[in-house]
Amino acid sequence: MLQRVQKILAQAGVASRRKAEELIAQGRVTVNGTNVKIGQSADAEKDRILVDGKPVRSERFVYILLNKPLNVVTSVSDPLGRKTVRDLVPVQERVFPVGRLDRNATGLVLLTNDGALANRMMHPRYETAKTYVATLSSPVTPSLLERLQKGIVVEDRKVLAKDVEQLGPNMVRLSIHEGRKHIVKKLFVGLGTHVDALQRVALGPLSLGTLQPGAWRALTDAEVRQLRQALAL
Ligand code: URA
Repeated sequence: MLQRVQKILAQAGVASRRKAEELIAQGRVTVNGTNVKIGQSADAEKDRILVDGKPVRSERFVYILLNKPLNVVTSVSDPLGRKTVRDLVPVQERVFPVGRLDRNATGLVLLTNDGALANRMMHPRYETAKTYVATLSSPVTPSLLERLQKGIVVEDRKVLAKDVEQLGPNMVRLSIHEGRKHIVKKLFVGLGTHVDALQRVALGPLSLGTLQPGAWRALTDAEVRQLRQALAL
């Protein structure tokens, strides 16, 4: 795949894109023995790219499914020193979480170094479905289920819950297609109740399955294919 050389360098962790441009401008980057210019493209898998005479190893894309436990923040680092999802996934590649899941929520978090795929997943147009199991502070009633299916206005925008199913006296599963902060909790506040526990069990075609809290695994090739297909990539 042809990509701008500065992008390849950034993905390989050599430098930020801006710094990579500086390296190129300083004549320190060659492709197949020839100095490159800013904006020039190369194929990270086929071309020999050197910085200061040293080969750049391009980072392969990795896709990791984590069952986030409680009290872990969905970020790469935390200024308050709290445990992050990155701490739980000690891979070499520079993976980052796709979207967010509250610290006091559990379940499926996808981590990847594939920026294009992550952007698509978070883009409203592609509407990746997110499926949650919410345990409520009050019993699930037929009227609550009905109102949930009809849609609730949260901060001036209607949220439609799909595939709504009662799983227990206080427990309901629902799928939503948006990623506003605390959206599920706000949805139930709008219905006059409160979410005591929240678990994400699926994200698009990916599901949590039997993965234990704190455990992670790489997506299978078939899962990556399904995901790319769902995102029209
Ligand atoms: N909705 C919430 O309220 N919290 C999450 O973490 C995700 C969706």
